[in-house]
Amino acid sequence: MDKREPLKIPLHVGLIMDGNGRWAKKRHMPRSFGHNAGMNAMIKLAEHASGLGIKYLTVYTLSTENLQRPEEELEGLFGLFRNYFTTNVKKLYKKNSAVKVIGDLSVLPQDVQKLLRDGEDNSPSGAEFTLVFAINYGARNEILHAVNSAVENGLKLDRDGFENLLYTRGMPYPDLIIRTGGEKRLSNFLAYQAAYAELYFTEVLFPDFSPKEFDKAIKDFSGRDRRYGKIKKEDN
Ligand code: IPE
Ligand code: IPE
Ligand code: MG
Repeated sequence: MDKREPLKIPLHVGLIMDGNGRWAKKRHMPRSFGHNAGMNAMIKLAEHASGLGIKYLTVYTLSTENLQRPEEELEGLFGLFRNYFTTNVKKLYKKNSAVKVIGDLSVLPQDVQKLLRDGEDNSPSGAEFTLVFAINYGARNEILHAVNSAVENGLKLDRDGFENLLYTRGMPYPDLIIRTGGEKRLSNFLAYQAAYAELYFTEVLFPDFSPKEFDKAIKDFSGRDRRYGKIKKEDN
């Protein structure tokens, strides 16, 4: 990236990692091959994002809808989580980075649930960077879950109160949402939190989404004028 131009670096980036299946199909390989390659791409991006000064990278790893995929594909994905949370995660800790998991984990295999929870518990406190895994995550379920817990406790909520009941409690809103793989939709990702996010869509299939491609998204974001409904000072 051009160091002479100071870029606006987002605090929180959401990443919809789409296109693993098509990437594998193009190579006449099973979908699991694409998911493996996608995991490797994600690991590189997390390191790159923390180097840029991004504080939170939320990766959409498995949606609530994805649970309808064939058992074999899901088992492959669970295997990738097992690997990541037993080995790779340690490298992250060494760089004073943390992991966090958002989503309904209760339907995942018991050992995977434990690994994910341990991954969070063993994270350094006061981490400079957090890699957030959205696993069996769906924005609609997250919102319903928050509403129901408010109702059960007889609470009438303000915005802070509501946000404290979301999985993303304590995290800033995503400034930028990137989706790879060509589709232009959120597919149930962070719908509430992304209400004012900048959106970036690319045709690049996720396993090919390199740090260089990520930089393009940051550069694009950096040039956006975020007005939040107001008018520019000079137009006043
Ligand atoms: C995204 O890639 C990863 C997951 C949903 C787990 P896909 O598996 O959706 O890849 P395509 O969209 O079929 O290419
Ligand atoms: C979104 O991709 C979910 C993840 C990347 C984890 P999908 O491939 O599941 O989304 P749709 O089916 O195109 O909406
Ligand atoms: Mg897809």
